[in-house]
Amino acid sequence: MIKKCLFPVAGYGTRFLPATKAMPKEMLPVVNKPLVQYGVEEAISAGLNQIGFVTGRGKRAINDHFDVSYELEHQIAGTPKEQYLTCIRSILQQATFSTTRQTEMKGLGHAILVGELLVGYEPFGVILADDLCIVEEGDDSVMEQLVKVYRRFGKSVVAITEVPEDQISKFGVIEAEELEPGLYTVSGMVEKPRAEEAPSNLAIIGRYVLTPDIFEALRHTEPGKNGEIQITDALLKLARKGRVLAYKFRGKRFDCGSVDGYVKATNYVYENVYKKEHD
Ligand code: G1P
Repeated sequence: MIKKCLFPVAGYGTRFLPATKAMPKEMLPVVNKPLVQYGVEEAISAGLNQIGFVTGRGKRAINDHFDVSYELEHQIAGTPKEQYLTCIRSILQQATFSTTRQTEMKGLGHAILVGELLVGYEPFGVILADDLCIVEEGDDSVMEQLVKVYRRFGKSVVAITEVPEDQISKFGVIEAEELEPGLYTVSGMVEKPRAEEAPSNLAIIGRYVLTPDIFEALRHTEPGKNGEIQITDALLKLARKGRVLAYKFRGKRFDCGSVDGYVKATNYVYENVYKKEHD
């Protein structure tokens, strides 16, 4: 059973300055909900209700968001505005929230290793809140799709999607053999390769289920691309032992770490999610 989900949320969000000067980028709203809440809802939908944040300086708003605001509750109790708090209240009832801090910015792999304190020795999910994933109504969330693969095979699973050549250098890219439609055994992986050096056009997006042996692999992973400790490099060690699968997820993914992707996500969610819920 997987119960825990890590959210590495220590990054600065420089691409959104000045909006992110005093506010975490994960709190940017997509229509009426902060990005990180979409991620937390996705984790809960997959049964991962022990949420762990790996935060950094200036990220207090995330912890406050997932806590009761007594002043606000008191102010709007009994008024029609109370309905606006219903969805966040229900999240607080369904999940627990813990935080640890990444004091140095040494990359995603390092952030996950810092999260070991919150995870212990068990399999866990990782959600990068910047990658907003929206599935068709009634379908499993992307994390739920990965958890189902994990339950069948007991191996680490990364979510992948096909990307065009000019995008490939923004992602971790896998080399893999198809096991069944949409499911691959990973034999190689490389962080942000140049298009001409990429082993495929199958890119990793910000959803992972990781087995706890990843921590030992991370402890022995040297800084790689951009001088950072990369989760891709640690996963490669497990992949060489046949311990990593890749799953071509169903759904849409928006890169909300870029202004362009963020605006697209906002328009999409407004038209296809928000309006339907508020009709
Ligand atoms: C991270 C990972 C990369 C992955 C990407 C997905 O990169 O290092 O392997 O493809 O997330 O969004 P980042 O976008 O944080 O630079």
